Amino acid sequence: MSHNTIAINQRMDRFNSHASVWLFGYGSLIYKADFPFLERRPASIAGWTRRFWQGSHDHRGTEAAPGRVVTLVPDAEATCHGMAYLVTPEEFAHLDHREKNGYLRLATEIRFEDGSSAEGLVYIATHENAAYLGPASKQAIARQIAASRGPSGPNSEYLLELARALRELGKDDPHVFEIERHLMKLVPSPVKVVART
Ligand code: SIN
Repeated sequence: MSHNTIAINQRMDRFNSHASVWLFGYGSLIYKADFPFLERRPASIAGWTRRFWQGSHDHRGTEAAPGRVVTLVPDAEATCHGMAYLVTPEEFAHLDHREKNGYLRLATEIRFEDGSSAEGLVYIATHENAAYLGPASKQAIARQIAASRGPSGPNSEYLLELARALRELGKDDPHVFEIERHLMKLVPSPVKVVART
């Protein structure tokens, strides 16, 4: 499968007739909402875990030297915490463009902190997309992140912003925080964090 997913995502019309749709964000979508939304709520989805296993050619790296960004991988025991946004279906044109490097829209149950839930969408980059990098040691992931930069800025900024946003939500994520620890050893004075994709 090509890593440009815009055409495939535009065929996913399940929510087109809805007045509004919940979107679950677990990566840059937690800390950078560059789209209008009706409501935003901390939320989670079950059966998935966050991993820095997706290559970024368009935001935090280049075709020649991809950065690493997060995707979700199936894990029956896991719950992934993030942020949900209630948006109108028109926002998906912008979101499909932003998430075009391998991410596919998937319908999922989104759980809110008050115990309620709603069906919504999440963007997931599976192992079948051409930009997928897959597992590596946390040290190797941190080294690749420290060395990468793309049109949206340094890859380290993506990691540091995500870690900060998860702390702000009060959520632990050992995978993210361990890679952050390794990065801090490689980058003595962290880049100034400015929210970008
Ligand atoms: C997301 O944030 O939900 C998808 C991955 C990303 O854009 O970083």
